[in-house]
Amino acid sequence: MNKQIRLASRPSGWVKEENFTLTEEAVGEPADGQLLVRNIFMSVDPYMRGRMNDTKSYIPPFQIGEVLQAGVVGQVVASRHPDFAEGDYVTGMLGWENFSISDGTQLRKVVAGAVPLSYYLGILGMPGMTAYIGLFTIAKAQPEDTVFVSAASGAVGSVVGQLAKIHGCYVAGCAGSDDKVALLTAEFGYDAAFNYRNSESLSASIREVCPKGIDVDFENVGGELFEAALWNMRDFGRIALCGMISSYNDEQLEPGPRGMMLIIGRRLRIQGFIVSDHPEACQEYVVKASAWLAEGKLKYQETTAEGVENAPAAFISMLTGGNVGKQIVQLADP
Ligand SMILES: NC(=O)c1ccc[n+]([C@@H]2O[C@H](COP(=O)([O-])OP(=O)(O)OC[C@H]3O[C@@H](n4cnc5c(N)ncnc54)[C@H](OP(=O)(O)O)[C@@H]3O)[C@@H](O)[C@H]2O)c1
Repeated sequence: MNKQIRLASRPSGWVKEENFTLTEEAVGEPADGQLLVRNIFMSVDPYMRGRMNDTKSYIPPFQIGEVLQAGVVGQVVASRHPDFAEGDYVTGMLGWENFSISDGTQLRKVVAGAVPLSYYLGILGMPGMTAYIGLFTIAKAQPEDTVFVSAASGAVGSVVGQLAKIHGCYVAGCAGSDDKVALLTAEFGYDAAFNYRNSESLSASIREVCPKGIDVDFENVGGELFEAALWNMRDFGRIALCGMISSYNDEQLEPGPRGMMLIIGRRLRIQGFIVSDHPEACQEYVVKASAWLAEGKLKYQETTAEGVENAPAAFISMLTGGNVGKQIVQLADP
C-alpha cells in the first residue's frame, strides 16, 4: 500500500497538523512512458507554506484533496520510460508518499554511494543552490565583504556562511537558540553569531557581530530582523532577499520595514530571487560543492524525521525552528 499526505484544508494563520490528511491506496502501475519510484527521502521546505494558500505565485498552489508535492530522492522500481531503468536512483519533484508515478519530467538520475542520498535534498540540492545563487549571482559578494545571514543554522543559512568564508568574506549570523549559535561558529565557519530570541535590540546585536557594518545581507527571515539589518547596511550594500519566513504564517501582513529611506541614502540594492531561475549557476554550484565536500571544506547537518505520516509534524517543526541544518523526512531504507 502507498501511504500519502494530502491537503485537507487551507490554513488560516499558523499551519496545523489538521490541515493535512493521511490516506492509503494501492501502489500504482506505470503506464507507457512512466516510471514508478520508491521514495526514500523527502524534503519539507518553507516555500510549501505559501503553496498551501490559494494565491497566485511563481509556483501553483497545492489543491485540497491532492497529494502534496516535495523534492524527493528515490529508486526506480519499475520503468516503462526509455531514459530510466529499474534500480536507478533519481531526484526531483514527486509526492509526500511512499511511491510515486512520474513521466520523468523534472527527474534526474543521481549516483548512489558518492554521498548519502539525502544530500541531494540539502547541500547538493535546492537549499545549497539557493545559498550559492543568492550570495554570488544576486548579492555579488566580494572577498572581505561583511556578510550577515538570518536563519543562519538552517538548510540555506548553514551553506551561505561556509561559502562566504571560502570566498574570503567576514560572516556573521543569527539563529534561535544558544546551541545553534555555538554550532554556527564551531561548525559552519561563522566569525560571530547571536541568538535573536535573547536580543534586547536586534540592531545593536547585529552591530556587535558586524562592527564595520554589512556589505551583503542574505535575508531569510524578514520582519524585525530585516529592519535591523537595514539600519546596519554600509553604503552600496546589497541585500539578497531569499525568504521572509517570519511572515509565512501571518494572517495579515504587517506594514514595514521602517527605515526604507536608508535604501536611498546608502545607495543600497535589494533583489529578490528564485533559485530555479538560475539552472546553469546551480549546475556550477553542484560541481564545486561536491569537490568541497570531498575535501572536507563544507560541513553539513540535517535533522531527520521518520515516516511519511510524520511529514506534517516535521514541516511544522521546521517552520518553528525545530531543525538544525536541513529538515528531511526518511520514508524508506536506501
Ligand atoms: N528564494 C529562493 O529560491 C529560496 C529557496 C529556498 C529557501 N528560501 C528561503 O530561505 C529561507 C530559509 O529556508 P531553509 O529551507 O533554509 O529553511 P531552514 O532555515 O532550514 O528552516 C527554517 C528556519 O527559519 C527560522 N525561523 C522561523 N521563523 C523565524 C522567525 N520568526 N524569526 C527568525 N527565524 C525564524 C528557524 O530557525 P531559528 O531556530 O534560527 O529561528 C527555522 O529553523 C526561507 O525564508 C525560505 O523561504 C528561498
